Amino acid sequence: MRQLISSKLRRLVRPDARYARGDRHANVLAVSTVKGGVGKTTTSVNLACAAASRGLRVLLVDLDAQGHCWSSLSSRVPSNPVARPVSEILLDDARAQLLDAAISTQIPNLDLTPADPGLAEAEGRLSQKIGKELLLRDALSITRTHYDLVVIDCPPNKGNLTLNALLAADRVLIPTDLSPLAVQGADELISTVLTINERLHHPLDILGVVLTRVDGRNVSVNDAVRADLLDAWGELVLSSEIGVSTKLSQAQLEGQSVFEFAPKSRGAVHYQALTDEILTRLASVERGAHAG
Ligand SMILES: Nc1ncnc2c1ncn2[C@@H]1O[C@H](COP(=O)(O)OP(=O)(O)OP(=O)(O)O)[C@@H](O)[C@H]1O
Ligand SMILES: [Mg+2]
Repeated sequence: MRQLISSKLRRLVRPDARYARGDRHANVLAVSTVKGGVGKTTTSVNLACAAASRGLRVLLVDLDAQGHCWSSLSSRVPSNPVARPVSEILLDDARAQLLDAAISTQIPNLDLTPADPGLAEAEGRLSQKIGKELLLRDALSITRTHYDLVVIDCPPNKGNLTLNALLAADRVLIPTDLSPLAVQGADELISTVLTINERLHHPLDILGVVLTRVDGRNVSVNDAVRADLLDAWGELVLSSEIGVSTKLSQAQLEGQSVFEFAPKSRGAVHYQALTDEILTRLASVERGAHAG
């Protein structure tokens, strides 16, 4: 009985009482598409690192049970992290904040949530929760006041975790390569965003679609697909593209960002340019919001 009463009381404790509010207001950016292997994690990791190197306080959230953000930066994180797994925080009725999962990395200004295999099981368990799509948004409500940018690396599907990311995010970045299945996956995600806008009344913006793994040897095919995409999606297509670069996968194997591993490589140059374009777009949306 006693246990029952205290657990009820615990739920009444507002998160504000347990967590100190910061003085920032992060942009929350989900990196998502339905197709696997198109560069979501590579983009999340290198964007987060590039933004942190420009002085922004960044939290990189790994929502994929594969834990590839963590392994991509394994040489810059503690080997035995002390933090609560993200899945536990999402399933915690006492409304814990994601701050409990954030680990400092050796990269200045960058925090990261640890790899969490429990996310695979959480995907199913979330189905039984009331308000299941809003758990991550709640877990970020105070957390985001400690950062300038939160980047969420999503799993390759439209399941409960992805839905949580999209409902927690202000904007979504959609990576796609130029293959038909990847383009179809990006198109599906765009439709999902529209449904979220209309049915769930969440004003999620599409920050842009970034073309990844662009192989410079296929000029005519690339030009034809790019023209179709510009026709269909217009200025949603970002002008920075990520070319094929073996240094990106080698950097991941070494557990480093591409900027540390091969700062002059094509991958590093392309991800710096993408970061410039994304930060410029974010700043212009913010200026628009303040003006409006
Ligand atoms: N521009 C690129 N050039 C060469 N290899 C790349 C490039 N981008 C990503 N890769 C490689 O492709 C593989 C898939 O990339 P990544 O893990 O980023 O995709 P993902 O969309 O996150 O995959 P998943 O859907 O499984 O989460 C990785 O081995 C990565 O190193
Ligand atoms: Mg991934």
